[in-house]
Amino acid sequence: MLHAVIMAGGRGERFWPESRLSRPKQFLNLLGNETMIQSTVRRINRLIPCDNIYIITNEMYKELVKEQLPTINEENIIVEPVARNTAACIGLACAFIKKKDKHANMVVLPSDHLIKDEDRFLNMIELGFKKANLGENLVTLGIWPNYPETAYGYIKIGNMDEDLAFNVERFVEKPDAETANKYINEGKYLWNSGMFIWHVDTIMKNFEIHMPKLFDGILNIEKAIGTGNQNHAIKEEFIKLDSISIDYGIMEKAKNIYVLPCQFGWDDVGSWTSLERLDNCDDEGNVLKGNVISLDTHRCIVKGSGKLIATVGIDDLIVVETEDAILICKKDKAQDIKQLIGEMKELS
Ligand code: GDD
Ligand code: MG
Repeated sequence: MLHAVIMAGGRGERFWPESRLSRPKQFLNLLGNETMIQSTVRRINRLIPCDNIYIITNEMYKELVKEQLPTINEENIIVEPVARNTAACIGLACAFIKKKDKHANMVVLPSDHLIKDEDRFLNMIELGFKKANLGENLVTLGIWPNYPETAYGYIKIGNMDEDLAFNVERFVEKPDAETANKYINEGKYLWNSGMFIWHVDTIMKNFEIHMPKLFDGILNIEKAIGTGNQNHAIKEEFIKLDSISIDYGIMEKAKNIYVLPCQFGWDDVGSWTSLERLDNCDDEGNVLKGNVISLDTHRCIVKGSGKLIATVGIDDLIVVETEDAILICKKDKAQDIKQLIGEMKELS
């Protein structure tokens, strides 16, 4: 059977002040009629029934998940007592999936991405499942890069095989700007989209080899699932784990990784400046959302929640107003919002 794991415990801090510790990016409606996590579930639900869709999130977000995703069974909303990054998140999902289906094939999805062409996306997922079952393969979806983004993982591609997948020569998580530039010029790298496809046995074998502590934790949690000890076991195991992403913990080290090159209008919607790529800009290059009046304003992103915002004679700024906070930031400093939050004592 096919299963989908949706990772929804991240903080998405670069969208402050709209994103808060209590409502991170995946729970925001940044672009359309639905929140990012609602789009994620709706998309994959065309291929995988709700019974086999799992949301892995932090205890803090359980109520938000229930509220935003009423079609997901409560037992499929799996909560982490503490955040231990994506390897632990995926490990926890494996414990629940293995318990239910020994022969599970799973796709792991972030909860906060934009995908424009959903039919193509689903075709690639189906191809991914095929490739994952042709051996003990770890499959990832790759995106042709068009600028040297340092917030992504890069995948060096080898030859393409008859299944239209590239052999992966190397996986490099978040290189510095100089390295990212070099990769773009070489033309042999794809962005890692953060979406993975594999058989549950394959990823478990990889945990056993590369992350043995997590592997033991998963087995202990699996034994406790369905007993009165379930939550206690998850807590006990999670406290012990290191915080490591699946990219560093497994993908940089594993063998048998394949990447499917994809073109389905993917965007990670990583910061306020993404809105320039994804929303309609006016003739002056501004993205203006809400009750905004602008004069002599160029290349600005202005978003309000109700109050009238008036701008005069400003260029290249981000202005975001919410009920209780206002952000004014130079566009080329948008990535530093994360740092600002680190310095704030009160987040929500
Ligand atoms: N449950 C849970 N627990 N989910 C988590 C946790 C956690 O501790 N940490 C992150 N997530 C969720 C996030 O909510 C997001 O949906 C997904 O996992 C990926 O985490 P990010 O924190 O957004 O990762 P990233 O963007 O820095 O990097 C990953 O994605 C890039 C593409 O967007 C990597 O896979 C990169 O290689 C990749 O290029
Ligand atoms: Mg991300």
